[in-house]
Amino acid sequence: PTIYVITPTYARLVQKAELTRLSHTFLHVPQLHWIVVEDSPSPTQLVSNFLADSGLTYTHLHMLTPKDRKLQEGDPHWLKPRGAEQRNEGLRWLRQKAAADGGKGLAFESAVIYFADDDNTYSLQLFEEMRYTKKVSVWPVGLVGAMKFERPVVENGKVVRFHTGWRPNRPFPIDMAGFAVSLNLVSANPEAWFDGNAEMGFLESSFLQNLVTMEELEPKADMCTKVLVWHTRTEKPKMKREEALIKQGLGSDPNVEV
Ligand code: UGA
Ligand code: MN
Repeated sequence: PTIYVITPTYARLVQKAELTRLSHTFLHVPQLHWIVVEDSPSPTQLVSNFLADSGLTYTHLHMLTPKDRKLQEGDPHWLKPRGAEQRNEGLRWLRQKAAADGGKGLAFESAVIYFADDDNTYSLQLFEEMRYTKKVSVWPVGLVGAMKFERPVVENGKVVRFHTGWRPNRPFPIDMAGFAVSLNLVSANPEAWFDGNAEMGFLESSFLQNLVTMEELEPKADMCTKVLVWHTRTEKPKMKREEALIKQGLGSDPNVEV
C-alpha cells in the first residue's frame, strides 16, 4: 500500500533545511507519495524548485491560514493550532482523487495517510509499522508534551488509556506524529476534518473522534513500547549580526537562497 504523507509547511529561515532533512528520510521509504501543503497564498519558488529536484513522488498544494486563525508575532506558539487548514487541504485532495478513482480502488486501495510536520524526526521503521493500517494505527511519540515520551497504553493487544502528563481525558491525547489513518476510512467519513478553532491540545481529537473509538485503535511499534518518531523542534536562528551588517550595507547577498 502507498503511504500518503501530508506535510504543512511555511516560509521561514529554516524551511529549506527542514524540507531537506525530511526529504532525505522519505527517499528511503518505498511507495511514499509526499503531499506538501504550503501555508501561502500561492506556491513559492523555493518549495516548487525544491520539490522538482527532490527525487520524490509528490503533490504540491497551498492553503493560506486565514489571518484570524494565524499566530501573530509575539503570541505564544500554542495559542492557535498550526497546520490545520493545510492538512485539510491535503485531505480534500486525497478524498477527491480517491472518489475520481471510482471505486476501482487500485491506486488508492488500502492506502494510508500520515501527517508529518516538517520539523519532526522520523525513523524508517515507522513507515513499515503504519503501512498496514486498517483504520487508525497508533504508536509512541518521543520528546513531546514536556515528557520523555507519550504513548497509548496497551493491555491484551488493545489500547486502554494514554500515558500523557496533561489532560489525559481528551478524546485522543495523541500528538499528530503518533497516528496514521486509512484512506478508505477517511473517504467513508467525509465529515472528519481538523478544527482550526480547536482548543489547545484538541486538534488531533477533532479529527480522530469522527473516525474511530479508542477500542478500535491498532497499536504498532511492539505494542507501543518503541519510540520511532520524535517531536523535535528547531531553534530559530539568531539574525543579530545579519541585521547589524544590513545597516552597514554589508548584509548577506539576498540572491542566495538559504
Ligand atoms: C504540535 C503538533 O506536533 C502539531 O502537529 C500541531 O499542529 C501543533 O502542535 C498544534 O497544536 O497546532 P508544534 O511543534 O508546536 O506541534 O507545531 P509546528 O511544528 O510549529 O507546526 C506544525 C506544522 O504546521 C509544521 O509542519 C509547520 O511547518 C506548519 N505550520 C506552522 C504552518 O503551516 N503554518 C504556520 O503558521 C505554522
Ligand atoms: Mn513541530
